[in-house]
Amino acid sequence: MATATTKLLLGDLVSHAKNVPLRYVRPPSARPHLSAVEKSNAMIPVVDLQELSGSGRAMVVKAIGSACQSDGFFQVKNHGIPDDVIGAMLRVSKEFFRLPESERLKSYSDDPSRTTRLSTSFNVRTEEVCNWRDFLRFHCYPLKDYVHEWPSNPSVFREVVGDYCKHARQLALRLLEAISESLGLEKDYMEKALGKQAQHMAINYYPPCPQPELTYGLPSHKDPNAITLLLQDGVSGLQVFRNGKWVAVDPIRNALVINIGDQIQVLSNDRYKSVLHRAVVNDSSERISIPTFYCPSPDAVIAPAQALVDEQYPAVYRSFTYGEYYDAFWNRGLQRESCLDMFRATNDPI
Ligand code: OGA
Ligand code: NI
Repeated sequence: MATATTKLLLGDLVSHAKNVPLRYVRPPSARPHLSAVEKSNAMIPVVDLQELSGSGRAMVVKAIGSACQSDGFFQVKNHGIPDDVIGAMLRVSKEFFRLPESERLKSYSDDPSRTTRLSTSFNVRTEEVCNWRDFLRFHCYPLKDYVHEWPSNPSVFREVVGDYCKHARQLALRLLEAISESLGLEKDYMEKALGKQAQHMAINYYPPCPQPELTYGLPSHKDPNAITLLLQDGVSGLQVFRNGKWVAVDPIRNALVINIGDQIQVLSNDRYKSVLHRAVVNDSSERISIPTFYCPSPDAVIAPAQALVDEQYPAVYRSFTYGEYYDAFWNRGLQRESCLDMFRATNDPI
């Protein structure tokens, strides 16, 4: 029988907690050190996409390219996802996490291979220290293959989330085109390289935390996919590692945060960087963040683009299937170093 100590979800465990339970406490050397975080958001570029389909396209492509190269992270405005679609997505996400426990638990699973599941932390089957997060994770492309697995409560969930997914996919494709062009590749290079392409989403729910210095919402990691589009509610929590320091990326209303994932780093042969980031929690507000993970198909063979490999820039990575990479990511747990190192080309002469 469920008791206070056997709650599956963090939101139900900690609604009145005064202390962080021991299994969420990081050792002193691995804590967030929040006072050392750079508060200024000014260093993460903001790119206005208004002209991406107009006469200013070349300039926008250039701005995206330089953001990918120097930061790996940028925010976009005028991205084409209507404000009301974003507002509804944030609202229904909040409503979902406010449903009674028994209703939410209908979606619960700790099996990372499930295509729709509500879970907690990162991978409760393998990790030693837990993260201050519950999350609903689901596949969303092709929509018709997955929408029936999604929660049906709140009653508008499938419609609202489906609508957001379609818009997010369009934006991801426009960004991939711009990224291909900015590397001097054919406009559809990335789209083709990623195969049929999968789209996953998560709704992260970070409850308020009585001792935010002791734990993480998500510890430092790089995203394993191709590109991530992150929608945040109005609460800060995302931080990016830049020039040896953590920098807070405070939300800009109706803007999205875009980051390069490991697969673009590989395809670009290290021209563009997948950058370390983390989510911290706070003691006053819950926080919702909604990443759209745009990923290659599991059978897509990923390797540095031939046009970006030459004597001066030999291939940094061997080729692999995305399925292979993705399994490695989930099995080894979130660590400071990324999975990329496991897929480096050998230095042996061929
Ligand atoms: C992620 C992630 C950041 C955040 O889900 O991969 O980095 O702010 N989230 O929730
Ligand atoms: Ni991430």
